[in-house]
Amino acid sequence: MINVSAKFWFLTVLVGQVIFSFYIIAFYYANTLAGDIAQYNRVMPAGYIENDTYGNAAVVIHVLFAALITIGGLLQLIPRVRQKIPAIHRWNGRLYIAIAIIMSLSGAFMVITRTDKVAGDAFGHAALMINGLIIIVCAIRAFGYARQRNFALHRIWALRLFVAVSGVWMFRIGLMAWIMFHGKPVGFDPATFSGPFLNFLFTLVYILPLLCLEGYLRAQSNGTVLNKTITASWLAVLTLIMLAGVFAAAMGMWLPRIGLA
Ligand code: HEM
Repeated sequence: MINVSAKFWFLTVLVGQVIFSFYIIAFYYANTLAGDIAQYNRVMPAGYIENDTYGNAAVVIHVLFAALITIGGLLQLIPRVRQKIPAIHRWNGRLYIAIAIIMSLSGAFMVITRTDKVAGDAFGHAALMINGLIIIVCAIRAFGYARQRNFALHRIWALRLFVAVSGVWMFRIGLMAWIMFHGKPVGFDPATFSGPFLNFLFTLVYILPLLCLEGYLRAQSNGTVLNKTITASWLAVLTLIMLAGVFAAAMGMWLPRIGLA
């Protein structure tokens, strides 16, 4: 049963992250290729800023690598790819780890140099930076254990890395599920994009999934039947909430931004 819940979770993440990547390509890649990065500002508070060459470069790098890391992460988790074409797993894994570090550094650069423009307040920014730090630590450890051919520990750190990288995606689906549930923004000011709910969400989106992962790994490796059943149940419930978030983010944010909803 625990495997069925894990598959349900992965399928939901797969669908949600494919739609997220599709939006990134259709919106950011298209505008970048058209040489009009000022269009980013239609959806992003700290997008293109005149005369801020380094900041703008960080944004372009960040959004272009965003689709690669999202698709690359999904590819790493598909068992058939790992078993049948291990070379893809190895090369994509190296790329994924390098991009994870680039995403965290470019994101941190944007937070530090554009503090007054980036969405969220100081607490939210700190939570985002900690997410970036966790990504870098997990990336280094996952890579290190793969080099040592310690595949048991490599798997654990690679899963932690995937979950930490997915934090920003979780933020988007969490936010849209919350707004869909209430029918309006609650617990934050949509004009300044700050408030207690957002600070809570900025932190929850990586802490909760990382804790759930630890619970899942423990139950999977040495849990009793009861333990496995309980884990499978809460994982299924959380995945149903995620599914609602994927629907809300796709219909309320990603697809409308590319004119598809
Ligand atoms: C590693 C996975 C990550 C992905 C896939 C990702 C993806 C994105 C995307 C697509 C955007 C554009 C906004 C949108 O259209 O949704 C964005 C913006 C941004 N990201 Fe990331 N990101 C990641 C990690 C991070 C990290 C770790 C940080 C901070 C350390 C960060 C900081 C930012 C900032 C500051 C913005 C601009 C937000 C604004 O304009 O207010 N990102 N990210």
